Amino acid sequence: MPRKRPVRVGIVGCGIIAQRQHIPSLLRTKEAEIVAICDKDKALLNSIGSRLKTNKCFSDFSQMLSQEELDLVDICTPPHTHPELAIEAAESGCHVLVEKPAALTLEEFDRIAAACTRNGVKLCQIQNKMFEPVVMGLMQQVESGDIGEVVGVDIKVLSRRAAELAKNADHWYNDLPAGVFTEILPHPIYLAQAFLGTVDPVGVCVKNAHRNQHARSEVIKIILEGRRGVGVISYSGPATKDKTIIDINGTRKNLRVDLWNSAKVEYGMGGISRASRAWENLGQCLSLLQCSAGTTISVLTGRFHSGHFTIIKRFAESIRDGTDQPVSIEQAREVIRVLESITEMAAPDKATREV
Ligand SMILES: NC(=O)c1ccc[n+]([C@@H]2O[C@H](COP(=O)([O-])OP(=O)(O)OC[C@H]3O[C@@H](n4cnc5c(N)ncnc54)[C@H](O)[C@@H]3O)[C@@H](O)[C@H]2O)c1
Repeated sequence: MPRKRPVRVGIVGCGIIAQRQHIPSLLRTKEAEIVAICDKDKALLNSIGSRLKTNKCFSDFSQMLSQEELDLVDICTPPHTHPELAIEAAESGCHVLVEKPAALTLEEFDRIAAACTRNGVKLCQIQNKMFEPVVMGLMQQVESGDIGEVVGVDIKVLSRRAAELAKNADHWYNDLPAGVFTEILPHPIYLAQAFLGTVDPVGVCVKNAHRNQHARSEVIKIILEGRRGVGVISYSGPATKDKTIIDINGTRKNLRVDLWNSAKVEYGMGGISRASRAWENLGQCLSLLQCSAGTTISVLTGRFHSGHFTIIKRFAESIRDGTDQPVSIEQAREVIRVLESITEMAAPDKATREV
C-alpha cells in the first residue's frame, strides 16, 4: 500500500467492545479509517451503520472481504469465532487485529499465526490494559530500576459487569472453557507477564459464591511462578464495581496502581519510626491528589487516551509506516498458553475449591 494513506479497516462484530472502544478509537485515529462493518445481527448492523453514516454494512463476513478493499480486519466477535474469521481475513491478504483472547487453545492460536505468516500479514491481539497511561508510567518506572529488582506482582480484578452478564444463561461467556474466567483472565495474565517475564501457573483455587446459578465459579486465585518473581492473580465476580489493582513489590520500594482511577502510590520505603509512617501516608495522599489532578486535566483537554486507542493507533501505524507492532505474536501466544494451563488447572476435578 502507498505510504501515509490511512489503513482501510473492516470491523467484524459490532457489540459492546466495538461500540465502546474500537469504533470511537478508529474514528479518532488519523492513521486508520473505517471502511466497512459486519455483524450477524442485522438490526444492530443497521443501527451502527446509520450512526457511522455508511452503507457498507455486511451480515456476511466473506462478502465484506470480497467486496471491499481492506488492509486490516478488526475482530470484535466472541472468542470461539476468532480462529475462523482471523484465518479467512489473513487468507484474503488482510492484517488482523483481534480482541483478547485471540484463541481458546494454543493449537487454535498457532493456526491463526501460521495463516498470518503464510500470507505475509501482521497479527496483533488487543492487550489494552498494558497501554493505559498509568500502566505505561508504571512500566517505565519499573524498567528504570527505581524500585530495585521486581520480586513479586499481585493483580486483583473485581468485575461486576462481566459477572452480571454471565447471569444470563444464554450469554456466550457461559460456553467458554472456564466460563467468565476465560473472558477476564487474559488481562491480568499479560499484565503479570509484563513485569515478571515468562510465567507459569503453579496453583489455582476456585470458589463458587453461589450468587450466580449459571456461572460455574465466581472467584479464582492463581499463583504464578515467573522468571523474575512470584505473581498472584485474584478475580472476584461478586463485586460492587469493576476495579483492577496492580501491586508491584521491588527490593527498594513497592508500587500500587488503581487502574480504574488512574492512581499510583508508593509504599514500604523509609524507616519504621512513627514519623516515617506519617510521611508515607502524607506522600500517598499527595500522589493521589497529583494523579487525580493530572488525569482530570488530560481528560478535560482531550489528551487522555484509553489503552484501546493507543494499541489500535500503534497497530495502524505499524502497518502504514512499517514500525514495530504494539503486541508481538510471541507475547500474544504466551497469554494463550498460560490461559490454557489455568483452564486445565481450574477444571472442577483439579482446582482446590471450597464450595
Ligand atoms: N479488551 C477488553 O477490555 C474487552 C472488553 C470486553 C470484551 N472484549 C472482547 O471483545 C470480544 C467481543 O466481546 P463483546 O463483549 O463486545 O461481545 P458482544 O456479544 O457484545 O458482541 C459480539 C458481536 O459479534 C457478533 N458476531 C458474532 N459472531 C459473528 C460472526 N461470525 N460474524 C459477524 N458478527 C458476529 C454478534 O452478533 C455481536 O453483535 C470478545 O473477544 C471479548 O473477550 C474485550
